[in-house]
Amino acid sequence: MSVRQRLQQNESGIELVMTRTPNEVTIYEVGPRDGLQNEATPVPTAAKLQFIADLRAAGLRWIEATSFVPPSVVPQLADAADLLAGIDAVDPEPGGRYPVLVPNEKGMLRALDAGCDAVAVFAAATEVFSQANIRATIDESFVRFQPIARMAAEQEVWLRGYVSVAFHCPYSGVVDPQAAIDVALRLLDLGCDEVAIADTIGRATPREVDAFLHLATAQLPFERLAFHLHDTSGLALTNVKLALEAGISVFDGAAGGLGGCPFAPGAPGNLATEQLVAMLEGMGIRTGVDAAAVAAAGRTIRSLLTAAPTT
Ligand code: HMG
Ligand code: MG
Repeated sequence: MSVRQRLQQNESGIELVMTRTPNEVTIYEVGPRDGLQNEATPVPTAAKLQFIADLRAAGLRWIEATSFVPPSVVPQLADAADLLAGIDAVDPEPGGRYPVLVPNEKGMLRALDAGCDAVAVFAAATEVFSQANIRATIDESFVRFQPIARMAAEQEVWLRGYVSVAFHCPYSGVVDPQAAIDVALRLLDLGCDEVAIADTIGRATPREVDAFLHLATAQLPFERLAFHLHDTSGLALTNVKLALEAGISVFDGAAGGLGGCPFAPGAPGNLATEQLVAMLEGMGIRTGVDAAAVAAAGRTIRSLLTAAPTT
Protein backbone atom coordinates (compact mmCIF):
# COMPACT_ATOMS: atom_id res chain seq x y z
CA MET A 1 0.00 0.00 0.00
CA SER A 2 1.41 3.39 -0.94
CA VAL A 3 0.95 6.30 1.40
CA ARG A 4 0.52 9.52 -0.49
CA GLN A 5 0.90 12.72 1.40
CA ARG A 6 -0.46 16.09 0.54
CA LEU A 7 -0.31 19.41 2.30
CA GLN A 8 -3.51 21.20 3.08
CA GLN A 9 -3.73 24.77 4.29
CA ASN A 10 -6.21 25.51 7.02
CA GLU A 11 -6.88 28.44 9.36
CA SER A 12 -4.41 27.26 11.96
CA GLY A 13 -1.53 26.77 9.53
CA ILE A 14 -0.24 23.85 7.52
CA GLU A 15 -1.81 20.46 8.21
CA LEU A 16 -0.39 17.21 6.90
CA VAL A 17 -3.11 14.99 5.48
CA MET A 18 -2.19 11.35 4.91
CA THR A 19 -4.12 9.35 2.36
CA ARG A 20 -3.68 5.62 2.17
CA THR A 21 -4.92 4.94 -1.35
CA PRO A 22 -3.99 1.35 -2.26
CA ASN A 23 -2.13 0.48 -5.48
CA GLU A 24 -4.26 -2.60 -5.96
CA VAL A 25 -7.91 -3.30 -5.20
CA THR A 26 -9.94 -6.52 -4.92
CA ILE A 27 -13.27 -6.44 -6.70
CA TYR A 28 -15.93 -8.66 -5.12
CA GLU A 29 -18.61 -9.36 -7.70
CA VAL A 30 -22.15 -9.78 -6.36
CA GLY A 31 -24.08 -9.89 -9.67
CA PRO A 32 -25.11 -13.56 -9.57
CA ARG A 33 -26.43 -13.19 -5.99
CA ASP A 34 -27.42 -9.58 -5.23
CA GLY A 35 -28.00 -8.91 -8.92
CA LEU A 36 -30.38 -11.77 -9.58
CA GLN A 37 -32.13 -12.16 -6.20
CA ASN A 38 -34.54 -9.33 -6.95
CA GLU A 39 -35.42 -10.00 -10.58
CA ALA A 40 -38.96 -10.93 -11.52
CA THR A 41 -37.86 -13.03 -14.49
CA PRO A 42 -36.58 -16.49 -13.53
CA VAL A 43 -33.08 -17.09 -14.86
CA PRO A 44 -32.23 -20.70 -15.77
CA THR A 45 -29.32 -22.25 -13.87
CA ALA A 46 -27.39 -22.74 -17.12
CA ALA A 47 -27.63 -19.00 -17.87
CA LYS A 48 -26.41 -18.15 -14.35
CA LEU A 49 -23.46 -20.49 -14.86
CA GLN A 50 -22.63 -18.83 -18.18
CA PHE A 51 -22.83 -15.44 -16.42
CA ILE A 52 -20.38 -16.70 -13.78
CA ALA A 53 -18.08 -18.10 -16.49
CA ASP A 54 -18.12 -14.74 -18.30
CA LEU A 55 -17.34 -12.86 -15.08
CA ARG A 56 -14.48 -15.20 -14.26
CA ALA A 57 -13.11 -14.85 -17.79
CA ALA A 58 -13.22 -11.07 -17.27
CA GLY A 59 -10.68 -11.49 -14.47
CA LEU A 60 -12.96 -11.50 -11.43
CA ARG A 61 -11.71 -13.84 -8.74
CA TRP A 62 -14.34 -13.30 -6.01
CA ILE A 63 -17.87 -13.95 -7.25
CA GLU A 64 -20.72 -14.20 -4.73
CA ALA A 65 -22.67 -16.97 -6.41
CA THR A 66 -26.00 -17.43 -4.62
CA SER A 67 -27.80 -17.73 -1.25
CA PHE A 68 -28.85 -20.71 0.83
CA VAL A 69 -32.05 -19.11 2.11
CA PRO A 70 -35.49 -20.76 2.02
CA PRO A 71 -36.65 -21.04 -1.62
CA SER A 72 -40.00 -19.62 -0.50
CA VAL A 73 -38.24 -16.41 0.62
CA VAL A 74 -36.02 -15.87 -2.44
CA PRO A 75 -37.31 -18.16 -5.21
CA GLN A 76 -34.86 -16.63 -7.69
CA LEU A 77 -32.01 -18.46 -5.92
CA ALA A 78 -33.81 -21.74 -5.23
CA ASP A 79 -31.32 -23.55 -7.48
CA ALA A 80 -28.36 -22.76 -5.15
CA ALA A 81 -27.14 -26.37 -4.79
CA ASP A 82 -27.42 -27.09 -8.53
CA LEU A 83 -25.59 -23.87 -9.32
CA LEU A 84 -22.72 -24.72 -6.98
CA ALA A 85 -22.51 -28.20 -8.47
CA GLY A 86 -22.05 -26.67 -11.94
CA ILE A 87 -19.31 -24.16 -11.15
CA ASP A 88 -16.33 -26.49 -11.51
CA ALA A 89 -17.41 -27.30 -15.06
CA VAL A 90 -17.52 -23.62 -16.09
CA ASP A 91 -14.42 -22.59 -14.10
CA PRO A 92 -11.87 -25.40 -14.19
CA GLU A 93 -9.00 -22.96 -13.41
CA PRO A 94 -7.81 -22.68 -9.79
CA GLY A 95 -8.17 -19.36 -7.97
CA GLY A 96 -11.89 -18.58 -8.23
CA ARG A 97 -13.74 -18.07 -4.93
CA TYR A 98 -17.51 -18.39 -4.78
CA PRO A 99 -18.95 -17.18 -1.46
CA VAL A 100 -22.65 -17.74 -0.75
CA LEU A 101 -25.04 -16.07 1.69
CA VAL A 102 -26.19 -18.13 4.66
CA PRO A 103 -28.79 -16.71 7.09
CA ASN A 104 -28.78 -19.50 9.69
CA GLU A 105 -27.44 -22.94 10.65
CA LYS A 106 -29.69 -24.68 8.13
CA GLY A 107 -28.33 -22.51 5.34
CA MET A 108 -24.76 -23.21 6.46
CA LEU A 109 -25.36 -26.97 6.48
CA ARG A 110 -26.83 -26.75 2.97
CA ALA A 111 -23.85 -24.65 1.81
CA LEU A 112 -21.31 -27.07 3.29
CA ASP A 113 -23.15 -29.98 1.73
CA ALA A 114 -22.79 -28.22 -1.62
CA GLY A 115 -19.03 -27.94 -1.07
CA CYS A 116 -18.79 -24.20 -0.30
CA ASP A 117 -15.52 -22.91 1.14
CA ALA A 118 -16.61 -19.29 1.58
CA VAL A 119 -19.83 -17.98 3.13
CA ALA A 120 -21.32 -14.68 4.23
CA VAL A 121 -23.70 -13.82 7.06
CA PHE A 122 -25.73 -10.64 6.93
CA ALA A 123 -26.53 -8.45 9.90
CA ALA A 124 -28.12 -5.01 9.96
CA ALA A 125 -27.39 -1.74 11.73
CA THR A 126 -31.07 -1.11 12.52
CA GLU A 127 -33.57 -3.31 14.34
CA VAL A 128 -36.36 -2.59 11.88
CA PHE A 129 -34.33 -3.69 8.86
CA SER A 130 -33.06 -6.76 10.71
CA GLN A 131 -36.67 -7.80 11.35
CA ALA A 132 -37.73 -7.09 7.77
CA ASN A 133 -34.83 -8.96 6.19
CA ILE A 134 -34.17 -11.90 8.49
CA ARG A 135 -37.04 -11.87 10.99
CA ALA A 136 -34.76 -11.43 13.98
CA THR A 137 -33.53 -8.70 16.28
CA ILE A 138 -29.85 -7.79 15.92
CA ASP A 139 -29.06 -9.80 19.08
CA GLU A 140 -31.03 -12.80 17.80
CA SER A 141 -29.20 -12.63 14.48
CA PHE A 142 -25.87 -12.97 16.30
CA VAL A 143 -27.19 -16.02 18.19
CA ARG A 144 -28.02 -17.55 14.78
CA PHE A 145 -24.56 -16.70 13.45
CA GLN A 146 -22.73 -18.52 16.28
CA PRO A 147 -23.04 -22.06 14.85
CA ILE A 148 -22.17 -20.73 11.40
CA ALA A 149 -18.98 -19.14 12.71
CA ARG A 150 -18.12 -22.29 14.67
CA MET A 151 -18.51 -24.51 11.61
CA ALA A 152 -16.59 -22.01 9.46
CA ALA A 153 -13.67 -22.04 11.90
CA GLU A 154 -13.69 -25.83 12.20
CA GLN A 155 -13.78 -26.40 8.45
CA GLU A 156 -11.55 -23.48 7.42
CA VAL A 157 -14.36 -21.78 5.53
CA TRP A 158 -13.77 -18.11 4.74
CA LEU A 159 -16.38 -15.95 6.48
CA ARG A 160 -17.66 -12.52 5.47
CA GLY A 161 -20.13 -10.46 7.49
CA TYR A 162 -22.33 -7.72 6.06
CA VAL A 163 -23.52 -4.64 7.93
CA SER A 164 -26.67 -3.76 5.98
CA VAL A 165 -28.17 -0.27 6.16
CA ALA A 166 -24.92 1.14 7.51
CA PHE A 167 -25.87 4.67 6.39
CA HIS A 168 -29.59 4.82 5.59
CA CYS A 169 -32.45 2.47 6.46
CA PRO A 170 -35.52 2.32 4.22
CA TYR A 171 -37.71 2.14 7.36
CA SER A 172 -35.99 4.36 9.94
CA GLY A 173 -33.97 6.87 7.89
CA VAL A 174 -30.45 8.09 8.61
CA VAL A 175 -28.37 5.62 10.65
CA ASP A 176 -26.05 6.59 13.49
CA PRO A 177 -22.56 5.61 12.23
CA GLN A 178 -21.67 4.25 15.67
CA ALA A 179 -24.53 1.74 15.37
CA ALA A 180 -23.00 0.43 12.12
CA ILE A 181 -19.51 0.33 13.67
CA ASP A 182 -20.85 -1.61 16.68
CA VAL A 183 -22.35 -4.27 14.39
CA ALA A 184 -19.10 -4.44 12.39
CA LEU A 185 -17.18 -4.99 15.65
CA ARG A 186 -19.56 -7.78 16.62
CA LEU A 187 -19.01 -9.44 13.22
CA LEU A 188 -15.24 -9.23 13.67
CA ASP A 189 -15.58 -10.70 17.18
CA LEU A 190 -17.65 -13.50 15.68
CA GLY A 191 -14.63 -14.42 13.55
CA CYS A 192 -15.42 -12.82 10.21
CA ASP A 193 -12.40 -12.59 7.93
CA GLU A 194 -13.92 -9.58 6.22
CA VAL A 195 -16.75 -7.18 7.04
CA ALA A 196 -18.65 -5.44 4.26
CA ILE A 197 -20.13 -2.06 5.09
CA ALA A 198 -23.30 -1.84 3.01
CA ASP A 199 -25.22 1.13 1.67
CA THR A 200 -28.22 -1.08 1.04
CA ILE A 201 -30.45 1.55 -0.54
CA GLY A 202 -27.68 3.57 -2.17
CA ARG A 203 -28.44 6.84 -0.44
CA ALA A 204 -25.21 7.56 1.47
CA THR A 205 -23.82 11.01 0.80
CA PRO A 206 -20.07 11.68 0.66
CA ARG A 207 -20.44 13.66 3.90
CA GLU A 208 -22.00 10.64 5.63
CA VAL A 209 -19.36 8.26 4.30
CA ASP A 210 -16.64 10.65 5.42
CA ALA A 211 -18.20 10.87 8.88
CA PHE A 212 -18.38 7.08 9.10
CA LEU A 213 -14.74 6.68 8.04
CA HIS A 214 -13.53 9.28 10.52
CA LEU A 215 -15.42 7.67 13.40
CA ALA A 216 -14.41 4.15 12.34
CA THR A 217 -10.72 4.84 11.85
CA ALA A 218 -9.79 4.31 15.50
CA GLN A 219 -12.22 1.43 15.97
CA LEU A 220 -12.14 -0.86 12.92
CA PRO A 221 -9.26 -2.55 11.05
CA PHE A 222 -9.70 -1.05 7.57
CA GLU A 223 -7.62 -3.83 6.00
CA ARG A 224 -10.46 -6.21 6.87
CA LEU A 225 -13.27 -4.00 5.57
CA ALA A 226 -15.04 -3.98 2.23
CA PHE A 227 -17.55 -1.44 0.89
CA HIS A 228 -20.78 -2.71 -0.68
CA LEU A 229 -22.54 0.20 -2.33
CA HIS A 230 -25.83 0.34 -4.15
CA ASP A 231 -26.02 3.30 -6.51
CA THR A 232 -29.45 4.88 -6.28
CA SER A 233 -28.19 8.45 -6.12
CA GLY A 234 -25.21 8.22 -8.48
CA LEU A 235 -22.82 8.91 -5.59
CA ALA A 236 -21.33 5.45 -5.19
CA LEU A 237 -18.11 6.17 -7.11
CA THR A 238 -17.51 9.35 -5.11
CA ASN A 239 -18.01 7.31 -1.95
CA VAL A 240 -15.58 4.66 -3.24
CA LYS A 241 -12.93 7.39 -3.65
CA LEU A 242 -13.37 8.45 -0.03
CA ALA A 243 -13.10 4.85 1.18
CA LEU A 244 -10.01 4.33 -1.00
CA GLU A 245 -8.31 7.34 0.50
CA ALA A 246 -9.02 5.93 3.95
CA GLY A 247 -7.29 2.67 2.97
CA ILE A 248 -10.21 0.38 2.09
CA SER A 249 -9.12 -1.99 -0.67
CA VAL A 250 -12.09 -4.33 -1.28
CA PHE A 251 -15.12 -3.05 -3.20
CA ASP A 252 -18.27 -4.85 -4.30
CA GLY A 253 -19.94 -4.37 -7.64
CA ALA A 254 -22.50 -6.08 -9.84
CA ALA A 255 -21.98 -6.40 -13.58
CA GLY A 256 -24.36 -4.16 -15.47
CA GLY A 257 -25.42 -2.45 -12.22
CA LEU A 258 -27.86 -5.27 -11.47
CA GLY A 259 -29.24 -5.71 -8.03
CA GLY A 260 -31.39 -4.93 -5.06
CA CYS A 261 -32.68 -6.46 -1.87
CA PRO A 262 -36.30 -7.69 -1.96
CA PHE A 263 -36.71 -6.51 1.66
CA ALA A 264 -35.30 -3.01 1.10
CA PRO A 265 -37.80 -0.94 -0.85
CA GLY A 266 -36.04 1.66 -2.98
CA ALA A 267 -32.83 -0.36 -3.38
CA PRO A 268 -32.27 -0.70 -7.11
CA GLY A 269 -28.89 -1.47 -8.64
CA ASN A 270 -25.54 -2.18 -7.09
CA LEU A 271 -22.62 -0.08 -8.20
CA ALA A 272 -21.83 -1.36 -11.73
CA THR A 273 -18.60 -3.38 -11.63
CA GLU A 274 -17.50 -2.07 -15.02
CA GLN A 275 -17.80 1.55 -13.82
CA LEU A 276 -15.93 0.73 -10.63
CA VAL A 277 -13.13 -0.99 -12.56
CA ALA A 278 -12.93 1.80 -15.15
CA MET A 279 -12.58 4.43 -12.43
CA LEU A 280 -9.97 2.48 -10.48
CA GLU A 281 -7.87 1.62 -13.52
CA GLY A 282 -8.18 5.26 -14.62
CA MET A 283 -6.72 6.26 -11.26
CA GLY A 284 -3.79 3.88 -11.82
CA ILE A 285 -5.10 1.33 -9.31
CA ARG A 286 -4.80 -2.27 -10.48
CA THR A 287 -7.86 -4.56 -10.38
CA GLY A 288 -6.92 -7.37 -12.77
CA VAL A 289 -10.40 -7.04 -14.27
CA ASP A 290 -11.40 -6.21 -17.85
CA ALA A 291 -14.18 -3.59 -17.60
CA ALA A 292 -15.41 -4.11 -21.17
CA ALA A 293 -15.72 -7.88 -20.65
CA VAL A 294 -17.68 -7.32 -17.41
CA ALA A 295 -20.00 -4.89 -19.21
CA ALA A 296 -20.56 -7.48 -21.95
CA ALA A 297 -21.41 -10.13 -19.32
CA GLY A 298 -23.88 -7.68 -17.76
CA ARG A 299 -25.53 -6.99 -21.13
CA THR A 300 -25.92 -10.70 -21.83
CA ILE A 301 -27.61 -11.46 -18.52
CA ARG A 302 -29.75 -8.31 -18.72
CA SER A 303 -31.04 -9.42 -22.12
CA LEU A 304 -32.67 -12.37 -20.31
CA LEU A 305 -34.36 -10.13 -17.76
CA THR A 306 -37.25 -8.86 -19.80
CA ALA A 307 -39.60 -8.16 -16.88
CA ALA A 308 -39.14 -5.24 -14.48
CA PRO A 309 -37.51 -5.78 -11.05
CA THR A 310 -39.94 -6.43 -8.20
CA THR A 311 -38.96 -3.31 -6.20
P1 HMG B 1 -38.03 -17.72 9.36
O1 HMG B 1 -39.34 -17.87 8.68
O2 HMG B 1 -37.99 -17.05 10.70
O3 HMG B 1 -37.27 -19.12 9.42
O4 HMG B 1 -37.08 -16.91 8.37
P2 HMG B 1 -37.55 -20.40 10.29
O5 HMG B 1 -36.26 -20.79 10.91
O6 HMG B 1 -38.75 -20.18 11.18
O7 HMG B 1 -37.94 -21.50 9.19
C1 HMG B 1 -39.12 -21.38 8.38
C2 HMG B 1 -39.06 -22.48 7.32
O8 HMG B 1 -37.96 -22.24 6.44
C3 HMG B 1 -38.82 -23.88 7.88
O9 HMG B 1 -39.43 -24.79 6.99
C4 HMG B 1 -37.33 -24.04 7.79
O10 HMG B 1 -36.91 -25.37 7.73
C5 HMG B 1 -37.04 -23.33 6.48
P3 HMG B 1 -40.81 -25.55 7.37
O11 HMG B 1 -40.52 -26.24 8.64
O12 HMG B 1 -41.83 -24.45 7.53
O13 HMG B 1 -41.04 -26.43 6.20
N1 HMG B 1 -35.70 -22.76 6.45
C6 HMG B 1 -34.82 -22.96 5.45
N2 HMG B 1 -34.91 -23.64 4.31
C7 HMG B 1 -33.83 -23.62 3.49
N3 HMG B 1 -32.71 -22.91 3.78
C8 HMG B 1 -32.60 -22.21 4.92
C9 HMG B 1 -33.69 -22.23 5.81
N4 HMG B 1 -33.90 -21.62 6.98
C10 HMG B 1 -35.12 -21.96 7.38
N5 HMG B 1 -31.48 -21.50 5.17
C11 HMG B 1 -34.85 -16.52 7.58
C12 HMG B 1 -35.77 -16.55 8.78
C13 HMG B 1 -33.54 -15.90 8.04
C14 HMG B 1 -34.61 -17.96 7.14
C15 HMG B 1 -35.49 -15.71 6.43
O14 HMG B 1 -35.99 -14.50 6.94
C16 HMG B 1 -34.50 -15.42 5.34
O15 HMG B 1 -34.05 -16.32 4.65
N6 HMG B 1 -34.13 -14.16 5.12
C17 HMG B 1 -33.16 -13.81 4.08
C18 HMG B 1 -33.76 -12.81 3.15
C19 HMG B 1 -32.77 -12.49 2.06
O16 HMG B 1 -32.25 -13.37 1.39
N7 HMG B 1 -32.53 -11.17 1.85
C20 HMG B 1 -31.68 -10.72 0.80
C21 HMG B 1 -30.23 -10.97 1.07
S1 HMG B 1 -29.51 -9.77 2.14
C22 HMG B 1 -29.09 -8.46 1.08
O17 HMG B 1 -29.43 -8.46 -0.08
C23 HMG B 1 -28.26 -7.37 1.63
C24 HMG B 1 -26.79 -7.44 1.14
O18 HMG B 1 -26.72 -7.37 -0.28
C25 HMG B 1 -26.00 -6.28 1.74
C26 HMG B 1 -26.74 -4.94 1.56
O19 HMG B 1 -26.86 -4.45 0.42
O20 HMG B 1 -27.22 -4.46 2.59
C27 HMG B 1 -26.11 -8.74 1.58
MG1 MG C 1 -26.75 -5.54 -1.45
